[in-house]
Amino acid sequence: MHLDYTHEDTYRHTREHVSLARTLVPDAYRSQEFFKIEQDKVFSKSWVCVGYTDQVREQGCAFTTQVAGQPIFVIRDKKNTIRAFYNVCRHRGSQLIEKAGQYNTLRCPYHSWVYDTCGDLLVTPLFKGHDLEEREAEFYTEHSQKLFCKDDYGLLAVRVWIWGCFIFVNLDGQACSLMDWLGDLPQRLARYPLEEMRLSKRVPYSVKANWKLIAENFIEYYHLPTIHPELVKVSKVNLHYRYQGAGMYMGFCTSPLTKDSTSPLDRLAPMPGLNATEGESAMWIHIFPNISLFLLPNHLFTLLLNPQAPDGTLEYADLLVHPESSQIPDCQSQIDGIFQYWDRVNRQDFEAVQRVQLGIATQAYPGGRMCERFEEPIHRFQNMLIDRMVGKNRIPQGDQETHDFYFLSQNLKMDTLHV
Ligand code: FES
Ligand SMILES: [Fe+2]
Repeated sequence: MHLDYTHEDTYRHTREHVSLARTLVPDAYRSQEFFKIEQDKVFSKSWVCVGYTDQVREQGCAFTTQVAGQPIFVIRDKKNTIRAFYNVCRHRGSQLIEKAGQYNTLRCPYHSWVYDTCGDLLVTPLFKGHDLEEREAEFYTEHSQKLFCKDDYGLLAVRVWIWGCFIFVNLDGQACSLMDWLGDLPQRLARYPLEEMRLSKRVPYSVKANWKLIAENFIEYYHLPTIHPELVKVSKVNLHYRYQGAGMYMGFCTSPLTKDSTSPLDRLAPMPGLNATEGESAMWIHIFPNISLFLLPNHLFTLLLNPQAPDGTLEYADLLVHPESSQIPDCQSQIDGIFQYWDRVNRQDFEAVQRVQLGIATQAYPGGRMCERFEEPIHRFQNMLIDRMVGKNRIPQGDQETHDFYFLSQNLKMDTLHV
């Protein structure tokens, strides 16, 4: 039976309460048609994280990426504003910049049109446009509306918004602001000095799995005892709690983290400004659609997802560190140790989600179930996705404090976590 992926009825089983709901229709992870619609309905309309302010620390620094299959680049302009543009020359459409670098101006490699870092077209060699000295007055009058003017051919801008160290873009000119999108998340993480974080290490991975399987794996903690024997020593399953307010994110935390002398995770100094609870907790946040944050007291590890195909995702594993955390003599080896630790965890996750990708090809599989205690964030995530697929721009609410019984049952001071 052919499903209409933009129709609410297709998703009726997932729309049930989490304790009754079925997971998303399996086509969502394997169908080319679903993927194409999802690129348009989700990635073209969402605030998509593309990188970090530290990648464009100096004026003229730029990097390229793709959002919903569209080539774009991000640049810090000569006035210090971070901008994003489609990576296309306005002359005859050449790709403008090929790779990350620092640019005083942007010269097209085809016919050498030159743009400044604010996107204005500066130079069009041998192309005089509206210089009409040699033309007949009559011609000028007749064609004046069609004649070329550089001001009309600046680079095509993309909406960009910075929160903390994160650069988000949105291809949809009508979308809500990033602050509405994030809801109460900036307030919840207000004490973390995110805007000062530096990108210390980055490794790209080509994962043979749908991007949603990677995101869903991150936001459930049911798999921890099976897949991550090292991680559960530090981040105990029974010390995981929901940490969920309104906004396009899924949040939970481990509080407190458990000391483990074999783990390299607590060897850097904590970030400045955290309160006592934050200083011994980990926040796990997935911002819909494409970035997962592992926010510990002294570092931030992230997974930045870029869907390539129904069964393939380009994933950047990034480690960000605060300058004050790095003020120790063997800082680089500690950073390498932290990265290796998460890299190992991440590989354990790859193997798991790649196995799901293989299993989910089974046509007889109608979708599965979710364990409410450990997998409720998946239900929240899938409902966000369905909303976009059917054209709803809803931003979901978070937990009522009285429902946050995991906090209460542990006598945690909720007011220290909830801002
Ligand atoms: S396509 Fe860029 S200058 Fe011609
Ligand atoms: Fe995992």
